Amino acid sequence: MTTSHTVEIDRLAFGWPNMPRALLDIPRLQIETGGSLFLRGPSGSGKSTLLNLLSGVQGGYSGSISICGERLETLSAHRRDQLRADHIGLIFQQFNLLPWLSPIENVALACRFSKRRREKAKVSGGTVAKEAERLLRELGLGEVVESRRRTSSLSIGQQQRVAAARALIGNPELIIADEPTSALDSEHRDRFIDLLMAETRASGASLLFVSHDASLASHFDRTLELGATTGNSEEALTC
Ligand SMILES: Nc1ncnc2c1ncn2[C@@H]1O[C@H](COP(=O)(O)OP(=O)(O)OP(=O)(O)O)[C@@H](O)[C@H]1O
Ligand SMILES: [Mg+2]
Repeated sequence: MTTSHTVEIDRLAFGWPNMPRALLDIPRLQIETGGSLFLRGPSGSGKSTLLNLLSGVQGGYSGSISICGERLETLSAHRRDQLRADHIGLIFQQFNLLPWLSPIENVALACRFSKRRREKAKVSGGTVAKEAERLLRELGLGEVVESRRRTSSLSIGQQQRVAAARALIGNPELIIADEPTSALDSEHRDRFIDLLMAETRASGASLLFVSHDASLASHFDRTLELGATTGNSEEALTC
């Protein structure tokens, strides 16, 4: 797939059936290959909803959303799932790690549903497990790998870096992170963002990062602010 935009939104509007007005109204938004966007807004402003629309798990919008040149609304549910598995690395607020798997197995899991990411991981690391280990070391978790720590015994900051490695493995074009730093102190938070930015840049991916915390905006190319009461910006946004 060749496109200079990882994400393209055109006249997107979305509302839940019980709401008096649209929750999301975004005239135009583009994230270029390698670009980064900071998505902020108060609780309830629709940040997670927008991420769910972009990752193809929520439909029912008007307008269009393209991911890596594919218009989501033209795809079957199965194709949308495959597009997500192949092209999007997700970091959830609660990380969604499986405690009964090792950190390496948790990272490797992202390749299970994507042949494309599996193959790319093998090219980079030799095997998927070796690539998972390489990424964990890269993210400062060498000790966790060497001492064979259980995922359930990891600190929040360590779990977060395992979740980041899982998003990065197999070089997906888009990394989406939903409030992944809210449980951290400011020093660990800044260190994590710098690390995530560096890894994302090294892989050439685009980054969409969500947080309430306005002070993080300077890390990213652009900011999109969703307003719960004021409506969303009318401006076209490219980053
Ligand atoms: N499945 C649903 N059905 C109906 N309304 C929903 C549903 N999911 C979310 N909402 C509503 O949509 C609005 C936006 O929710 P969303 O989770 O996107 O906000 P958010 O900006 O991510 O908030 P937070 O910062 O608290 O995570 C809220 O008013 C929420 O109650
Ligand atoms: Mg949310």
